[in-house]
Amino acid sequence: MLNREDNELLCRVGPGTPMGNFMREFWFPALPSREFPESDGDIKRMRLLGENLVMFRDTNGNMGAIAEACPHRGASMYFGRNECEGIRCPYHGWKFDITGKCVDMPTEPEGSNFINKVRARAYPCRDVNKMVWIYMGPRAEPPPFPNYEVNTLPYDRVSEPNVMMEEANWMQNMEGDLDSVHLDWVHKRLSKDAPPPPIGTHGFYNPDPRPPEFDVHESEYGAFYSAMRNMQDGQEWHRINQFIFPFFTMISAGPTVNFRSFVPLDDHHAMLITQSAHPDQPMPPGTDERMVNAFDEVGGYIERSHDPRSYFMTVANKRNDFWLDREVQKDRMYNGIPFVMNLPDRAMTELMCSDDGEPLYDRTQEHLGTSDVYVIAVRRQLIRAAKAFRDNGSLPPNVENPDTGRVRMGSFLLPKGSDWLAETAEARLADGGQPIGCDVPLIIE
Ligand code: FES
Ligand SMILES: [Fe+2]
Repeated sequence: MLNREDNELLCRVGPGTPMGNFMREFWFPALPSREFPESDGDIKRMRLLGENLVMFRDTNGNMGAIAEACPHRGASMYFGRNECEGIRCPYHGWKFDITGKCVDMPTEPEGSNFINKVRARAYPCRDVNKMVWIYMGPRAEPPPFPNYEVNTLPYDRVSEPNVMMEEANWMQNMEGDLDSVHLDWVHKRLSKDAPPPPIGTHGFYNPDPRPPEFDVHESEYGAFYSAMRNMQDGQEWHRINQFIFPFFTMISAGPTVNFRSFVPLDDHHAMLITQSAHPDQPMPPGTDERMVNAFDEVGGYIERSHDPRSYFMTVANKRNDFWLDREVQKDRMYNGIPFVMNLPDRAMTELMCSDDGEPLYDRTQEHLGTSDVYVIAVRRQLIRAAKAFRDNGSLPPNVENPDTGRVRMGSFLLPKGSDWLAETAEARLADGGQPIGCDVPLIIE
């Protein structure tokens, strides 16, 4: 449970909020590169941390993000022209480059220096391994670009991003990744011999009814934990997941690096972006297509409107109960929502709301138990970090020294009674030279 003040501080990310200011100190993913296939191509609207932006690829192929409202009289730059190293406002022709510099002001008389006094609010972007990252903070010189494995491995070892819009506060969504125990419920197959559901992955079956044992560790870049389950062969399965400031997780799901971002568009909408990477070989053929089209079996995405909150919105959504199938729920899966990417998870987190429909959960109402220990730890880390930045300007080390966040998740089968921290010390590092570990042993394909 959180008091109202901490809940607000944790969740709200608009300009001037403590958490919003904290997040703006980090580079984070904005949109997949595939949204901008060509230089001088279409301008796209985007909304991030409560700010309306337009994004575009300029003549040189570089990505730009500037405020949607033109600094002259506020016309939408979305209707502008992307031409010759900048975009020109549709209303009176003022032109801005990707740095926000006004490079042409045709309405001013010759000799006027007004052009030097006006800038568009602009944010640096980097296009790396199929993803456009953005830095929305106040520094003239952005912090070092993050060197997560998805950013440093060769291009063909990193997947296209899969993106799913979630109609809930970013922290609600991310808490699903901090909660390993839901695996035994939301994603449970009812029995080993249950017929597979007609749509989606077949789920997990664990004959051991005991909940996993958690061991949580706070770290300088965030936190990590092991959820330990006893396997029937006498071994322990340690599922180790990572949280990295401000909204990144790495969850164990097979033999790849899985990097996930919960990017807030505003307080009520966030994208879950998943990128996978293989540390030492190209991703299998077809991976990119699978990631891009992952929701096809539940109808794909709705048609986009003018509003970026409609991007990556799946056809299966809260308006149709996420395609809940009560027949499947009877005898196949614990949860009848198709297990397609994080669709069932989203049903759990999106609909956490108060009676008045406010889609930002009031955490004064909850009752946390033993299994919520990682959720509690990450909330504590985030609240502490946002307050430290608000009160004395200090930031976690992974802002200035991205190496501290070069970590990994993984699944490991260890003999009973092992010292899992010592046994996995190298495997939890991106540069530890160890394999990622085993496949999640409860998956039934
Ligand atoms: S409003 Fe953009 S140039 Fe006038
Ligand atoms: Fe899940």
